[in-house]
Amino acid sequence: MAAKGADRGTREDSVTSLLDSIGGKEAVKVVVDRFYQAVWDDAILAEYFVDSDRERLKAHQTAFVSAALDEAPYLGRSMRAAHAGAGIDSESYDRMVGHLAHAMADSAIPTPVIESVVRRLSPLRSEILQDAEPAAYAEALA
Ligand code: HEM
Repeated sequence: MAAKGADRGTREDSVTSLLDSIGGKEAVKVVVDRFYQAVWDDAILAEYFVDSDRERLKAHQTAFVSAALDEAPYLGRSMRAAHAGAGIDSESYDRMVGHLAHAMADSAIPTPVIESVVRRLSPLRSEILQDAEPAAYAEALA
């Protein structure tokens, strides 16, 4: 029988059932709550979020992480559009990914799943990091 659920998501299913294997969207919600708590408690990151609607942000992030774990497309805004003009630097980006990894570890998500999520995020780095400030774009277009 399904001792510790070990017969799910470990063999033929291994590529597509990461989301199910960790407990589905409900488990992701718990991770996202922990993740943003850490982000909002982090003085370096909190200032980026002063104008954000926190509940909306958590809902979008839950959808995003669930899609990443399910190999499904995320239907929201592109990551480039969502972060455009925020002036996010490398240090902030790395702190954010660190908080996400810790939130997953604190939620007892297995290390290989965490590594897989972090790997899937890595192509987004160049979309999210933008050195140019919005004012610089405005001047360039004026
Ligand atoms: C692994 C990297 C990241 C992922 C996967 C990610 C994902 C997301 C998602 C799914 C949203 C919601 C998009 C929407 O509302 O349409 C969002 C919004 C946002 N992200 Fe990120 N993000 C990442 C890194 C960062 C970093 C490093 C920062 C800043 C230090 C940041 C700051 C923000 C802000 C301020 C918003 C809210 C925008 C708004 O209120 O409209 N994100 N992010």
